[in-house]
Amino acid sequence: MKIVVLAGGNSTEREVSIASGQGICKALRERNHRAIMIDPYFGRETLEEDLFPAEYDIEKEAEQMRRNSAGLEATMKSRRGFFGPNVLSVCEKADIVFLALHGSNGEDGKVQSVLDLMGIKYTGSNPLSSGMAMDKGITKMVFEAKGVPTPKGTTLEKGDNSRLTDYGMEFPVVVKPCCGGSSVGVFIVKNESEYAQALLEAFSYEDKVVVEQYITGREFSVAVVDGKAYPVIEIAPLQGFYDYKNKYQAGSCVETCPAEISASLTKEMQRYAEQGYEALKLQAYARLDFIMDEEGNMYCLEANTLPGMTPTSLIPQEAKVIGMNYPQLCEKLIEVSLK
Ligand code: DAL
Ligand code: MG
Repeated sequence: MKIVVLAGGNSTEREVSIASGQGICKALRERNHRAIMIDPYFGRETLEEDLFPAEYDIEKEAEQMRRNSAGLEATMKSRRGFFGPNVLSVCEKADIVFLALHGSNGEDGKVQSVLDLMGIKYTGSNPLSSGMAMDKGITKMVFEAKGVPTPKGTTLEKGDNSRLTDYGMEFPVVVKPCCGGSSVGVFIVKNESEYAQALLEAFSYEDKVVVEQYITGREFSVAVVDGKAYPVIEIAPLQGFYDYKNKYQAGSCVETCPAEISASLTKEMQRYAEQGYEALKLQAYARLDFIMDEEGNMYCLEANTLPGMTPTSLIPQEAKVIGMNYPQLCEKLIEVSLK
């Protein structure tokens, strides 16, 4: 197949996305696909004559993308639109676009809308479901309406002076930008002054912020592929919670798959993951994140429609447990997206 892997973009998760794209593109090449990687934000000034060449240097492409990251801020100041040169015309020539983008302008449904309008196939969920899952406040409302357990919480807009007790919450609470990713701008706060500071910082990322009851417990994640849950993985940060540093600094977390919890708790979490996926009408694949307290009460924190896909990310580890290696997983995600 001819595949364009879109990675990079202009969100706070650009670097993670480049790593996901690099892994995916390399793996698809190993499976004899004519995969190429393009950064939708920077595009390509010049194009090779053969758009999907048999020989392709993915490392070189990734290096160039990382170099471009240095110019991201300046480009964002001087540019109006999102797409760089030639991106969509190259995507049009592919059999499918593998979305390795994370965060805003990639995971939130906007790129998906453009591809839909152009009749280009892509991996993952449609624009509406992507948008709903991207917004943690909407996700919470949908989960509550559909009986998927989620921590008590609410969405605040700038200038909202409501108190935690108005929503039945008490310290500690978690404050996070409504549509962020990789825990950027997420704070666990224990008192009024920390709360005020956290709101200030979270609002510097976005105009909407989610505040929710902090649950003390163990963190888990479950991939759902084509509606069916994969094995549960536990993420145990050696320090603090599963924040940006712990997510991407090698050796800062212990990840165990299958998670060492009872068969019945495993089943329950997998069932909630499938219900969450269904409630948001997600498609092809997603990864749902959980926290479980000491009594075994579990809460779904969010659904990621374009979760991290480096060879050592969570979903590849889950796939390995059911006998699927990383290149096979990448192909599987294409297969279920084309259904
Ligand atoms: N937002 C990151 C990439 C994840 O969910 O894996
Ligand atoms: Mg996320």
